[in-house]
Amino acid sequence: MGMNIAIDGPAGAGKSTIARKVAEKLSFLYVDTGAMYRAIAVYFLRNGLDPAKEEDVKQVCEKADISIAYKEKEQRIYLNQEDITGLLRTEETGKMASLSSAHPLVREKLLETQRELARKNSVVMDGRDIGTKVLPEAEVKIYLTASVHTRALRRYQELKEKGIDCQLSEIEKDIEDRDYRDMNRPVSPLRQAEDAVLVDSSEMTIPQVLDKILEICKEKVG
Ligand code: DC
Repeated sequence: MGMNIAIDGPAGAGKSTIARKVAEKLSFLYVDTGAMYRAIAVYFLRNGLDPAKEEDVKQVCEKADISIAYKEKEQRIYLNQEDITGLLRTEETGKMASLSSAHPLVREKLLETQRELARKNSVVMDGRDIGTKVLPEAEVKIYLTASVHTRALRRYQELKEKGIDCQLSEIEKDIEDRDYRDMNRPVSPLRQAEDAVLVDSSEMTIPQVLDKILEICKEKVG
């Protein structure tokens, strides 16, 4: 029998870094659901489509085929058979993913793929609605968060290291906007599941967060 771990939380809380490490430690599959929403966003952007227009959303849901494969345990995302994994982590794609993911048709389209992965494998799945909607029966649920300031600072440092010029105040504003959109949409908004354990990583290092989550897993399932 498989076991599933759901990790939800706002943008920049460190979900993917932590989820990947937890998966590695437990030999589970890491499923990054944000990447699936980002792949849909790439289709919107490439085709100049508008997530606020019902017709455009329908077109995307019909024409954008999103699939997943694992190469050396790394998740690869395909948009109509093209591997677009390397194109997903831009600010523009993140913003479009936040906008387009609010649409119920987009969410429905990805839901079954996510559930099927969890049925067939033991997974660590991260996103916004994993504990509340995608895997309500997950054995372990974590709500991983950090203050807006901490998340913005981490993002700022990441961009600076890549040589990308940016303003901390702008990043903070973007994070606040994204939180607002993700938490206030009518379908599957980001919120802590009743049975999720809250982990605030504002004052914690990555190894500390990892230890904490592994400890929670042990407590829950032995
Ligand atoms: O985790 P991320 O930054 O890659 O996610 C990008 C956007 O996708 C996020 O702003 C909201 C959306 N998303 C979602 O609605 N549900 C998920 N399970 C994962 C991501």
